[in-house]
Amino acid sequence: MIIEKQEDVTEAVLQEMHRTPDPRVKEILSALVRHLHAFVREVKLTEREFEKAVGYIAALGQHTTPSHNEVMLICGSLGVSNLVCLMNNGDSGTRETAANNLGPFWRADSPRCDNGGSIVRSPTPGPALFVNGWVRDGAGRAIAGAEVDVWQSSPVGLYENQDPSQAEMNLRGKFTTDAQGAFSFRSVKPSGYPVPTDGPTGALLRAQKRHNFRPAHLHFLIYKPGFKTIASQVYVDDDPYLETDSQFGVTKALIGNFVRHENEPAPATDVEGCWYSLAYTFALEPGESWLPKPPISKKAAAPAA
Ligand SMILES: [Fe+2]
Repeated sequence: MIIEKQEDVTEAVLQEMHRTPDPRVKEILSALVRHLHAFVREVKLTEREFEKAVGYIAALGQHTTPSHNEVMLICGSLGVSNLVCLMNNGDSGTRETAANNLGPFWRADSPRCDNGGSIVRSPTPGPALFVNGWVRDGAGRAIAGAEVDVWQSSPVGLYENQDPSQAEMNLRGKFTTDAQGAFSFRSVKPSGYPVPTDGPTGALLRAQKRHNFRPAHLHFLIYKPGFKTIASQVYVDDDPYLETDSQFGVTKALIGNFVRHENEPAPATDVEGCWYSLAYTFALEPGESWLPKPPISKKAAAPAA
């Protein structure tokens, strides 16, 4: 159609949808155009602001590398990641779920480990942590043979992919639930960490005067054919950033009870000082078992000497 005035632009774009053969693609694109145009009208976007917005979107790609995904980061910082997660889990968002954002740091092919094994692969100072987890269905029945991928930041707040001083795949491991649906591992207590602020996500946080921390957590990805795959994060209950997580990932159901033990014998004889334990049960619901595409594919290189 020939556009005569600003109101016509939306209709002109929507009219071009009729050739789109895939009905779902058509639905999504039509809604995107309607909402995007309504947004531009609502905020009365100026030409300079539009130019700036285009620059931010281009920078999301420019800041994305094999070891960092800026697009995933800003989706979290805008609450979109957790909204998508909560709408698609817990009986389509109607009840509590252990599902949570995948986050930007999952790597495929983490080493397989026996239950009770350690995921500490290079010297990683910090209080020892012993985790006992269970995977169950909605009726509380044990799910045996579920693959449980685990990853976390070190006590200095860096994932191994961000930190050349950590061994390849440090604080990452893949466990399999036993006949009772149980898995267990040894690690170190994770720390909260700042998300990177050198890209558009940093600009967003600064514009809102928000901090860039995430509360300490453990990541899980649980896969078992016949059940809906979930990514999960279990948050450390004494963390000061639980209510202001810069990625809006914390839900009530996912605040773990990290028990501090002092002057008590630890499950391993080499533990010195205080140590922590965590027990947590993940419920899976029926659905599609699939593995997401890893947001990153390799470890950051050490800077040139
Ligand atoms: Fe994380």
